[in-house]
Amino acid sequence: MRKVYFDHAATTPVDPAVAELVMKYTTEHFGNPSSIHNFGREVKKAVEHAREQVVKAIGASHVGEIAFCSGGTEAANMAIRGAAYANKQKGNHIITTAVEHHCVLSTCEQLAKEGFEVTVLPVDQYGRVSVEDVRNALTDKTILVSIMHANNEVGTIMPIAEIGKMLKSQDRKIIFHTDAVQSIGKLPVNVDDLNVDILTFSGHKIYGPKGIGAMYLRRGTWWQPIMYGGGQERRRRPGTENAPGIIGLGKAVEIAVENREEYAEKLTKLREKLVDRVLNSIPNVKLNGHPTECIPGHASFCFEFIEGESMLLSLDMLGIAISSGSACTSGSLEPSHVLLAMGIPKEIAHGSLRVSMGKYNTEEDVDYFVDNLIPIIERLRKMSPLAGSASCTPCACASCDENKK
Ligand SMILES: Cc1ncc(COP(=O)(O)O)c(C=O)c1O
Repeated sequence: MRKVYFDHAATTPVDPAVAELVMKYTTEHFGNPSSIHNFGREVKKAVEHAREQVVKAIGASHVGEIAFCSGGTEAANMAIRGAAYANKQKGNHIITTAVEHHCVLSTCEQLAKEGFEVTVLPVDQYGRVSVEDVRNALTDKTILVSIMHANNEVGTIMPIAEIGKMLKSQDRKIIFHTDAVQSIGKLPVNVDDLNVDILTFSGHKIYGPKGIGAMYLRRGTWWQPIMYGGGQERRRRPGTENAPGIIGLGKAVEIAVENREEYAEKLTKLREKLVDRVLNSIPNVKLNGHPTECIPGHASFCFEFIEGESMLLSLDMLGIAISSGSACTSGSLEPSHVLLAMGIPKEIAHGSLRVSMGKYNTEEDVDYFVDNLIPIIERLRKMSPLAGSASCTPCACASCDENKK
């Protein structure tokens, strides 16, 4: 059976060049980078090389601005909690959006329980927050704004550079964090162009290892650690470093950024073909997220009258791996918070599918997916009690008509 992996927003296969390095620094060069003997020193050197690779990839100015940690979730916790507590004397107000990953939303919810005031901004029908809404939400107590670069469910790109510029023009310093887990390697990510103070990302979304991530912290940004222990990572993240992971992440980010334009061009074409075929061959389907301001290779749909899980399982039986929402929320019967925030009614949000293609996918994969999806949708709709009346709800009709223009 053909196997098609269309779930790169959940995780990616490790690039062979990365895997080779990880293996080497797991078996051959296994020293603790804090040890002063040769076993430790050679690993330390490779860890510092990885830090330089990250600096170069995101346009940072100094290796001291990069701290490695266990992944995108920990990095976001470090970014938000660390900035919130370090700046508590100046204010207690934090701004974020309704479509963030749970690592940001739940961290902000927890801070609200700890006495911070959190504003969760709405988004438009495509999942974008407006610069004006961010500006209007600012108060003289605002210390931090945390907004993702690209959404993990619908792929929509946020106006990060514009928001950063607006925040910079304020009289007082407001720290700006962006979660770039889904954008790095797919979009240009340069911390100066994006006007951000803190940027976080993860290894396993860019063909690197799982359980490794990084936080960029602009020099001069007030921040404090959230964990205490040894002096590793300039006291920003204590604990013996995951050296193979760090070294693998360095290589992965280097490959991802060096080849970004080539991958983006290929994935944009694959997405166009897939979206075109799905919208033109299946009735009552809505494309979620922004039609053009979207990460390459990413497409999210809502199919009326059916459950995302039933589509996912039917496709899985044919060797096609896909997600019915974000990896963290699939398995839960609650519809995606992102789709609901975009104004999609609950019953339609239940029928969502997320396709996220990667650098190894081909046009044949797209054809295999769509050729199999069409009969699956037909079969599931025949079985669906919701499809009995077979008339579109007003919302979905408006959307699918719009999509087909
Ligand atoms: C936008 C976004 N942020 C953060 C994370 C968490 O990253 P990690 O899995 O490395 O903890 C994810 C993972 O899906 C994500 O998509």
